[in-house]
Amino acid sequence: MKSADIRKKYLEFYKARGHAVIPAAPIVPPDDPTTLFTSSGMQQMVPCLKGEPHPMGTRLTDSQPSFRADDIEEVGDNRHICMFEMLGNWSLGDYFKKEQLPWVYEFLTKEVGLDPDRLFVSVFAGDEYAPRDDESIKIWQSVFSTDKPAKVGTEGFDPATKIYLYPAKKNWWSRAGEPAKMPVGEVGGPDSEVFYDFGEELHLHENSSWSGEPCHVNCDCGRFLEIGNSVFMQYVKTDSGVQPLPKNNVDFGGGLERLAAASQNTPDIFTTDSFTSILRSIEVSSGKRYEGEYMPPMRVIADHLRAAVFMIAQGITPSNKLQGYVLRRLLRRAAVRGRKLGGDIKKIFESSIPTVVSFYSDAGFISADSSTKVQAVVSEELTRFEKVLTNGIKEIDRRQGKLDEQIAFDLYQSYGFPFEITSELVAEKGTTLSQEKFDELFKKHKEESRTASAGMFKGGLADHSEVVTKYHTTTHLLHQALRDVLGDEISQAGSNLTSERLRFDYTYSGKPTDEQLKKIETIVNEKIKADLPVVKTIEDKDEALKSGARAFFAEKYPDKVSVYTIGDYSKELCGGPHVGHTGEIGGMRVVKDESLGVGKRRIYARLTA
Ligand code: SER
Repeated sequence: MKSADIRKKYLEFYKARGHAVIPAAPIVPPDDPTTLFTSSGMQQMVPCLKGEPHPMGTRLTDSQPSFRADDIEEVGDNRHICMFEMLGNWSLGDYFKKEQLPWVYEFLTKEVGLDPDRLFVSVFAGDEYAPRDDESIKIWQSVFSTDKPAKVGTEGFDPATKIYLYPAKKNWWSRAGEPAKMPVGEVGGPDSEVFYDFGEELHLHENSSWSGEPCHVNCDCGRFLEIGNSVFMQYVKTDSGVQPLPKNNVDFGGGLERLAAASQNTPDIFTTDSFTSILRSIEVSSGKRYEGEYMPPMRVIADHLRAAVFMIAQGITPSNKLQGYVLRRLLRRAAVRGRKLGGDIKKIFESSIPTVVSFYSDAGFISADSSTKVQAVVSEELTRFEKVLTNGIKEIDRRQGKLDEQIAFDLYQSYGFPFEITSELVAEKGTTLSQEKFDELFKKHKEESRTASAGMFKGGLADHSEVVTKYHTTTHLLHQALRDVLGDEISQAGSNLTSERLRFDYTYSGKPTDEQLKKIETIVNEKIKADLPVVKTIEDKDEALKSGARAFFAEKYPDKVSVYTIGDYSKELCGGPHVGHTGEIGGMRVVKDESLGVGKRRIYARLTA
């Protein structure tokens, strides 16, 4: 079955079971300083999993384009991609395990038509934080049962055993991982994954480095592919462990490209229909076929270009910071792999971009006329990169006589050169580099950068929710004050909050004077001092917009929306969270206002108390 059909069937399946289809979140989550990208469907749902009502009800479903930067290095084999679509369904204190698990099974076997003999599941084994998930074991036993209960196993793999128990490292889900790693305030719970078996040849074939090792459903050999994960969001982390949430929630996520691979029974995700057109255009423009040594570079180009095109179409541009830096890395990594194909990189990219744009615009995620903008950004970045590549080659010349793995690592870090490229360039000078030593440096760096990303998460909403909440409400006041002073031309073009400051992008053709900025600051502080109540209501989108409520990405909001009204001063469509009264904010100071190019500006402000 084609990916688009799987997506459609999935949404219809859950719609028929009382779910509302909600719009996907943008790839950069609005107002969430804890993470750079939307990396799972549940991200926009966090406040609701903690107990806030969702305007569309308690049963929700969607398909969420997601990006996982952690997986960039893994791309190149037959199944890792960092840009993917996640099919999701949620119960917010509504149904729970006894509905969810049989539905997953029914969808996979009846709707997608997967062979039940090829399906295996895993369940949480229990630990000091939470007990073994016996309820899920029982439900799976009845789902799989023909005449006798399905067997439960803990180790290895036996085709007669359908249910496998794993500890929290594998069968607990939160954005930070297992319970010990969750920051206080983070939600999570035990989960149950479904695996599709492509057959033992993948583990045992003569070139497999796994053939001497025992196989199991979580093995990395490629035999088993995880195609869906039901998380039972029951807990929130506290100082003393985990506490039950006010309600039992379900958070299901299934990778669309992986489901397509199972449905098309191909262990190579890149041969599924999501990738065939882009691979075809890479083949045509490079004059190489998708086989042998060309497979890994073509996979990297296909995956990274999909991600880059999506990001650019949603407004990210390459830079040396945050999302822009990740985008730059993706394009450079893809360009370096393009050298392996020996063709003209610009041509390869140019011919692939329209294919990706039409794939994602057909699905309704980006605008169909994004190609021109994407082409321009990519072409400028490639021109810049050519210079970087020249610099890298110069660096190699400069370090003549001291060409070791460290240079490969430095070039990797500074310019995104993969090891093979540096080692080829260095080999031309007669030096051979060791992949193992490079891997050691790389592993060390990866561990360090993982702990950094955990820091970002810790340093964000989870630890500073109060201050970020204050910034969030201040942003609404600032938005209205900008309009009061600069006129109706102002509308929101972006926003980003950290525990240190707020940043608000807005459309404006002029340049505000110092007096105007002062006036904006004074108005916001007056509204803070007035201690206005902040009230949340659920309204029909059209009604809310008609009544003058502000909206960012109006067309992306569902039909029923949550609206925050601040006294009689501001009204905006927004998911929250916000303070109860503006007095809680204390005070605000504008620190900077700058141009972002024609017709767009960015203002920064800090809390003063
Ligand atoms: N949040 C879970 C995941 O990303 C299920 O949606 O796997």
